[in-house]
Amino acid sequence: MKKINIAPPTGRLGVLLPGMGAVATTYMAGILNSRKRSVPLFGSVAELAHIRLGPRAEHRQPLIRELVPLASRDDLVFGAWDIFPDNAYEAAVKASVLRPEDLEPVRTELEAIQPWRGAFDRDFVKKLDGPHVKHGTRRAMAAEIIDDIRRFQQDQHCDRLVMIWCGSTEVYHQPEDVHNSLAAFEKGLDGDDHRISPSMLYAYAALKLGIPYANGAPHLNCEIPALRELANQTGAPMTGKDFKTGQTLLKTIIAPGLKARMIGVRGWFSTNILGNRDGEVLDDPGSFRSKEVTKGSVLDTIFQSDLYPELYGNLYHKIRINYYPPRGDEKEAWDNIDLVGWLGYPMQIKINFLCRDSILAAPVVHDLALFLDLAKRAGLKSTQEWLGFYFKSPLTIDRLPPEHDLFIQQLKFKNTLRQLAGEEPITHLEDR
Ligand SMILES: NC(=O)c1ccc[n+]([C@@H]2O[C@H](COP(=O)([O-])OP(=O)(O)OC[C@H]3O[C@@H](n4cnc5c(N)ncnc54)[C@H](O)[C@@H]3O)[C@@H](O)[C@H]2O)c1
Repeated sequence: MKKINIAPPTGRLGVLLPGMGAVATTYMAGILNSRKRSVPLFGSVAELAHIRLGPRAEHRQPLIRELVPLASRDDLVFGAWDIFPDNAYEAAVKASVLRPEDLEPVRTELEAIQPWRGAFDRDFVKKLDGPHVKHGTRRAMAAEIIDDIRRFQQDQHCDRLVMIWCGSTEVYHQPEDVHNSLAAFEKGLDGDDHRISPSMLYAYAALKLGIPYANGAPHLNCEIPALRELANQTGAPMTGKDFKTGQTLLKTIIAPGLKARMIGVRGWFSTNILGNRDGEVLDDPGSFRSKEVTKGSVLDTIFQSDLYPELYGNLYHKIRINYYPPRGDEKEAWDNIDLVGWLGYPMQIKINFLCRDSILAAPVVHDLALFLDLAKRAGLKSTQEWLGFYFKSPLTIDRLPPEHDLFIQQLKFKNTLRQLAGEEPITHLEDR
């Protein structure tokens, strides 16, 4: 296998975050903390995972970051936008994910991160109304975002940039003519077409500048034909959508196992309570619909009911998200799975996951920042299917059906890394 020429990660990497709420502040505070005291970055594959190379007899198992050149956490600098003017310390305190003993040691650094004004339209996030917003047409707001980025890059002496949407979930909407080509989209920017969502303005700005982009939320965003066209033009890597963290992560771990052993599933009821701002936004039916679609499609693809109608043809999959303020970020999720075994005998699995939303999402943001930057330096362009490992609704090339099984996703992810490093992919066939 020929090794791909990857530019070294020299200098500073600027991580741009539209939306500076629970996830973004937990991520930044975590990285800043890890520079001051030795704390393993639990949940980060880029920091902790090893990767096997060659036949087992060779015993080669380096860290992923020893195999491919990833930016160092010491070289990261952060920039963010929000519709509230709080600095990152104030926003982290309000999000109340991290304890004071994890925030105070990095307070000065967090206070220095002041968000730029957000490009916002209440029609897309009905539950929020912030004062710290940009004004003017879609075109003017996109131009301002581009100015924010350029200024930040200059002031912070960044060699490279990546952008990851950590803002609120926007309402569910379908692609329309204005999204269908770059020309129509740019005309829509000029005409302030209200079908262009604020999150699309950030994606447009990043991709236009050739900056790698990821969408962490479930709404319609960079997958529209207009922005795919832009990414193809500028060669910016992009990926999404909707971070795969709590309940859906478990779903894509358990469902492939049941299917691998041909155990039938008749019903899967998932409900959860959460009380953070994300939960409040998802309390709006329009925003919830975006989430319901990305969460719902996962089981359909894993179970392939068209191939296995007797096992999964009658599956009833129900998802509920309930806003319950007392819990804050400490989400609690319950799953009831109704199984069918030998001779049709019913069985059940109950899962009660007491998780922390942003604690699960922060390492995903970190990994995406590092791997998108790697993709850019390796010359990988546009849709990055191998990063589908991190998402509930992975973006695919040519709208092919996505792969949801976490273990197939992991194989693809690791084989891509092996390929970048000039190592043979591992198929487990030739194993010795
Ligand atoms: N935490 C998880 O496990 C997880 C998993 C999957 C997806 N997500 C998604 O990640 C996103 C962030 O989650 P969170 O818990 O940090 O939410 P949050 O509500 O704490 O933070 C979102 C922030 O985005 C800001 N915002 C909204 N619209 C904006 C705009 N147009 N421009 C700039 N800022 C804007 C809000 O003011 C808020 O501060 C949400 O969309 C959520 O659905 C989170």
